[in-house]
Amino acid sequence: MTRTVAESAALRGTVALPADKSIAHRAALFAALAEGTSVIANFPDSADPRSTLACLRQLGVDIAEEHPGLVVIRGQGREAFSTSGAAIDCGNSGTTVRLLSGILAGSRLGGTLVGDASLSQRPMARITEPLRSMGAEIVLQGGHAPMQIRPGRPLHGITYTLPVASAQVKSCILLAGLYASGQTTIIEPVATRDHTERMLGLSIRRVGSARHITSSQTTRVKPFSVNLPRDFSAAAFFLVAGTIVGQGTVRLPGVGLNPTRTALLAVLRDMGADIRISGQTDAGGEPVGDLEIHPAALQGITVGGTIVANLIDELPILAIAAACARGRTVVTGAAELRVKECDRIHAVVQNLRALGADIEEFDDGFAIEGGAPLVGTTVDSFLDHRIAIAFGVAGLVAQGQTTITRADVAEVSYPDFWQALDRCVARS
Ligand code: S3P
Repeated sequence: MTRTVAESAALRGTVALPADKSIAHRAALFAALAEGTSVIANFPDSADPRSTLACLRQLGVDIAEEHPGLVVIRGQGREAFSTSGAAIDCGNSGTTVRLLSGILAGSRLGGTLVGDASLSQRPMARITEPLRSMGAEIVLQGGHAPMQIRPGRPLHGITYTLPVASAQVKSCILLAGLYASGQTTIIEPVATRDHTERMLGLSIRRVGSARHITSSQTTRVKPFSVNLPRDFSAAAFFLVAGTIVGQGTVRLPGVGLNPTRTALLAVLRDMGADIRISGQTDAGGEPVGDLEIHPAALQGITVGGTIVANLIDELPILAIAAACARGRTVVTGAAELRVKECDRIHAVVQNLRALGADIEEFDDGFAIEGGAPLVGTTVDSFLDHRIAIAFGVAGLVAQGQTTITRADVAEVSYPDFWQALDRCVARS
């Protein structure tokens, strides 16, 4: 599917964003590990969390209800998974394959995890190396999925310092640690999203600037009821859109504001954005609030170092903000962008250049000289949801019309995005 976005003078409205994808995956997985019934309200209808549910079903988990916005899981405990031996398809979802591998290795069930063409290109040695050092036997294809986890191998706990700042690797090993003998401790030199430790109530010790997070067989996984917060990473697109389009106010109620996710807020505010937060509260252990965005002129900024892990998914849309800012924006330390759903550095550079932006590519980021007029043209999604959506937002400020090919990939995290954008434009 192709989408065309016209330059827009104003953007207005209240947008009901989809629920947080990272938390949704974890809610489904942890409900399956618990003994008892968990109720997950506001479960998103996006392809990635649906992949997690489909995998769980294949593993014999009792998903008692799956309606729009409501999932009820009758967990039978961490030992109760079963398998027919068929390959388990994680679709496009890195979080599904990486977290599930920790459970399949830990539970001794084993299995073969597969994914789509993009997922089959993404690095998996980052999880198989620590899992192997716990005692797992895993076969990859040149470092990628299909991932064959041999059944029957008991695991022992390890202490592991994360070599890459990755919440998926952290979560995978902590989940394997629920089954391993002894304790499993992840040492995290750079903080990454902490939903796993919050939701499982894991013990955390601070040692200098590092966090030491521990799981073990004695970690109790309890059933729960939760109303999932809306996704800050989806809010990010409207934070930028509402800032760079000349008029109107955009409101985003009930957005997750976990501090390990919201670095983009600080960066945009430092650039000059006018984003107001109200109604701050707590939803199931996660901070939530309402956001209101007013147009503002932006200045370029330098982004690098430890903050990058907390805005890694937001860097494509930050690049669009940077193209509209006065002065130079430099992003470094973001080599991880090259191993996401596509090579996001290459995709951002290629697409922004096609629109007329002055952008330089680095191995680990990019530099943008803001202010060059953007002119609508045809760009590709690279079959990556965040690239499709970021360039949909760019279309609002590019002269004429911007066409995004293969734009339906937005459904991976935000199936309603194009309609939501149309509504905000139509109200203007
Ligand atoms: C995620 C962690 C991040 C992020 C991804 C979701 C998670 O990946 O990019 O979209 O839910 O744990 P990494 O852990 O590989 O950085």
